[in-house]
Amino acid sequence: MKVLVVGAGTMGHGIAEVVAIAGNQVYLSDISKDILNSAVDKIKWSLSRLYEKGQLRESPEDILSRIKLVVGLNEEVKDAELSIEAVPEKLELKRQVFSRLEELLPRDAILATNTSSLPITEIAYAVKDRRRVIGTHFFNPPVLMQLVEIVRGKDTSDDTVKKTYDFIVKINKKPILVNKDVPGFVVNRVLLRIITTACMLVEKGIADHKTIDAVARYKLGLPMGIFELVDYTGVDVNYYVSSAMIERGFKAYYCKTLEEMTKKGELGVKSGKGFYTYPDNKYVKVN
Ligand code: 3HC
Repeated sequence: MKVLVVGAGTMGHGIAEVVAIAGNQVYLSDISKDILNSAVDKIKWSLSRLYEKGQLRESPEDILSRIKLVVGLNEEVKDAELSIEAVPEKLELKRQVFSRLEELLPRDAILATNTSSLPITEIAYAVKDRRRVIGTHFFNPPVLMQLVEIVRGKDTSDDTVKKTYDFIVKINKKPILVNKDVPGFVVNRVLLRIITTACMLVEKGIADHKTIDAVARYKLGLPMGIFELVDYTGVDVNYYVSSAMIERGFKAYYCKTLEEMTKKGELGVKSGKGFYTYPDNKYVKVN
């Protein structure tokens, strides 16, 4: 199958990797060559880790050869049968991408979004045929996280749901179907409640972020601390996701710290500094 992934950032490059590992041809599109090159470096690193552990059936080179890099969205991608959009969590930007995809791709191509928080139905307003718009919400890092939420928008057809479900199974992920297009779907309604509560405890001076992370790891048994996870997924992503959900009626504490850090460019692992520091912009386990 030919799959277009739009956006080669934290999620997009990982989704492209997963899709290529499963044997599909991938177009990976972003606005600049530099972003795409950095995405390829991350995919290479990840594939080599998996290869060393015997978790790939092919060489990293063979898998990489199925990923074609595309700057911008142009005719090169016009035979894609499915697109997965993973651009920043901004409604207008996503709508622009969807409107362009409708112009470029075959009429029966599925148009999926990896949004974490924006209603599928609101994104779908950008296209005329909304039956083929659907949510496919992957988790970071896509290559290691099994779960994908498949989210049905108001106008998504049963056929689109079925084909998307089958595709997610074929790329060796475990889908759950979310039939109600509520902000944050299922996972982020739970997760953002935890993150914003942790933030409230820090902002009110009840505990510091390191104490809360120790509680998460050593008492709750989570693989990462809560603030560590925010750094890992992106402080900005968590700011945009929580804001979008709260704007749409989700009742949670508004974490001012996320807003301030985003404005300062303290975005977590990808910028080298968030709640913790990351030399070389790489994730290092916090002890
Ligand atoms: N590709 C390949 N291998 C990878 C990898 C990647 N992208 N990332 C990590 N690894 C490997 C490491 O190299 C390491 O290998 P080793 O054991 O041979 O040395 C192994 O995985 C374990 O990694 P670490 O030792 O660095 O750290 P951990 O044991 O903590 O594992 C983790 C890392 C799997 C990411 C684990 O911490 C985890 O599961 N964290 C929670 C992630 C999570 O909850 N994600 C969902 C976030 S929510 C989201 O994405 C939604 C959005 O809407 C916000």
